Amino acid sequence: MSDRLKAEREAAVARRNLLTQDAMERTGISDEMIGELVTRFYGRVREDAILGPVFAIVQNWDEHLARLKDFWSSVVLMSGRYHGSPMRAHLPLNLVGDHFDRWLDLFEQTAREVCPPAAAALFIDRARRIADSFEMASATVAGRIASPRHVLRS
Ligand code: HEM
Repeated sequence: MSDRLKAEREAAVARRNLLTQDAMERTGISDEMIGELVTRFYGRVREDAILGPVFAIVQNWDEHLARLKDFWSSVVLMSGRYHGSPMRAHLPLNLVGDHFDRWLDLFEQTAREVCPPAAAALFIDRARRIADSFEMASATVAGRIASPRHVLRS
């Protein structure tokens, strides 16, 4: 790698770190908070009658939890740690409205327990937007049309 490219990469990493630092200060969200939210939420998901059977596909839970921590760190702190295609992982699962409702119920309940109100509101807003996009895409693949149901709820 040339010296110029190396310097540009380092500058990009430094800018990203500043962005993340700023997001942490503004929201009060930390890696520990994300860790607790993800661990507690998936503990509930695995025991849930509607969601548990869907998650039986997960072979390695340590890996899944680590990936989801990176995912949320990228979404709320812009850390760039997650590199994946979440939509592609969900389309083959044949998810329907009941799955999304339950997933969001458990996620929102856990976020409110683990995070202060402003941080919980940020996680919940992002989760609802993403859930709506998965739900609409899942419906399209199944030959139906769906509109966003969760993002506009209070
Ligand atoms: C109906 C609700 C949902 C169900 C039942 C569900 C289920 C699953 C399952 C079974 C996997 C593992 C796929 C695999 O290992 O092949 C997975 C992965 C994942 N889910 Fe969900 N999910 C739901 C909603 C969501 C939502 C709303 C988000 C984001 C806010 C999300 C984020 C992710 C991410 C980031 C992965 C990892 C994808 C990767 O491999 O990089 N899921 N989900």
